[in-house]
Amino acid sequence: MSAINYSEKIPNNVNLSEDRTLQRALEQWQPNFISWWDDMGPEGSTDMDVYLRTAVSVDPQGWASFGHVKMRDYRWGIFLNPGDADRQIHFGDHKGEKAWQDVPGEHRANLRRIIVTQGDTEPASVEQQRHLGLTAPSMYDLRNLFQINVEEGRHLWAMVYLLHKHFGRDGREEAEGLLERRSGDVNNPRILGAFNEATPDWLSFFMFTYFTDRDGKYQLCALAESAFDPLARTTKFMLTEEAHHMFVGESGISRVISRTAQAMNELKTDDAGKLRAAGVIDLPTIQRYINFHFSVTVDLFGADESSNAATFYSSGLKGRYEESKRGDDHVLKGQTYQVLEARGGQLVEKEVPMLNALNEVLRDDYIKDSVAGVGRWNRVLEKAGIPVKLSVPHKAFHRNIGALKGVKVSPDGRVVSEAEWSAKVNNWLPSGDDRAFVASLMGRVVEPGKFANWIAPPVMGINRQPVDFEYVRFN
Ligand SMILES: [Fe+2]
Ligand SMILES: [Fe+2]
Repeated sequence: MSAINYSEKIPNNVNLSEDRTLQRALEQWQPNFISWWDDMGPEGSTDMDVYLRTAVSVDPQGWASFGHVKMRDYRWGIFLNPGDADRQIHFGDHKGEKAWQDVPGEHRANLRRIIVTQGDTEPASVEQQRHLGLTAPSMYDLRNLFQINVEEGRHLWAMVYLLHKHFGRDGREEAEGLLERRSGDVNNPRILGAFNEATPDWLSFFMFTYFTDRDGKYQLCALAESAFDPLARTTKFMLTEEAHHMFVGESGISRVISRTAQAMNELKTDDAGKLRAAGVIDLPTIQRYINFHFSVTVDLFGADESSNAATFYSSGLKGRYEESKRGDDHVLKGQTYQVLEARGGQLVEKEVPMLNALNEVLRDDYIKDSVAGVGRWNRVLEKAGIPVKLSVPHKAFHRNIGALKGVKVSPDGRVVSEAEWSAKVNNWLPSGDDRAFVASLMGRVVEPGKFANWIAPPVMGINRQPVDFEYVRFN
């Protein structure tokens, strides 16, 4: 079951050829996907041969094969983790019942909405990143960008498969809609806010893959617990690909910091102007980018109190992060959780039913995980002898959803006046000037083994290839 059949038009491990109607429907969607890729995929990449990994099985060992391919010929397909025929629902009101292989009628609308919302983020990020290839800091980085782009394309396929197989005509219409919305389009935008923001430069790209792909990880982990077994199985396989995206972000930022630290030591200065003149990104600017990307990403988890979140959990659609490792009753009735609100000029905790606070629970798990990587960036600075610590801002900072929406809070968690906010916002969030400076560094460096001045080379190459390997052939 785990072997992937590549002899078919649509590679899959779901015995697609046994369901002719579904196969035909997906084969009709396929050319629309390719034309979306041609329009909205990486700009100017059509003739390039890219050293990509392709899934060859869903086994933990050896699922990937590497080789130079043209991206539009990438074998996008449908891969589900192996099923467990006896799997039981392990949380919510249906706990102990058999997991669903089909969508129960009463949960159809909610499940469709969950799948469409997840599916929409996948092409959105490809659209957000489509110009970045023109300013790649190295051939190695260019290859990593393209790997992420094709895998986000495959994640779209994963969600489209579920829509086509389990949601009939509505599902087919939603699958078309996923190719019609456009990131940042005023008339037909992507569903979630962060996926309509531009990813204009590579610092933003690394921040996005560190912070926002990690939101993807937490959402997928919660869906991997779902009582709807096909959703659980497909998201489990998506998670294996997501790990690489977060690696690109974490190691990318780490290399930027490493290069900046080197320049600070060589020039014996922490003066932002002097460092900028030397063509590296000063640490305060990096901190402001962290503040921005962290805050727009924590918004993605939704309102801190949400009756939808309670419904999704109790009905078994979406669990918590690592649901099965938790020692509670997995029903959560009568339990409580602390959320924040601003009262009398202060942030105060408020106790609410845990079921209603499950967005906040997932957000808090996400925050713990985000902080860990920032600690690893700080070790790069520590090793270089630089006494600066980067940090994520307070979770109430710069929020645009839920009880904290619009409340002016400093990165260290003080409620501040409008006047203080306006006076300091350029110290807290990237200013036009910061963005223009970062943009000014973006030039194209694509000779094998060469790197832009603002970023250090990686410690090692991809798939044990040398750093100066020809990861992309331009033809
Ligand atoms: Fe994805
Ligand atoms: Fe991703």
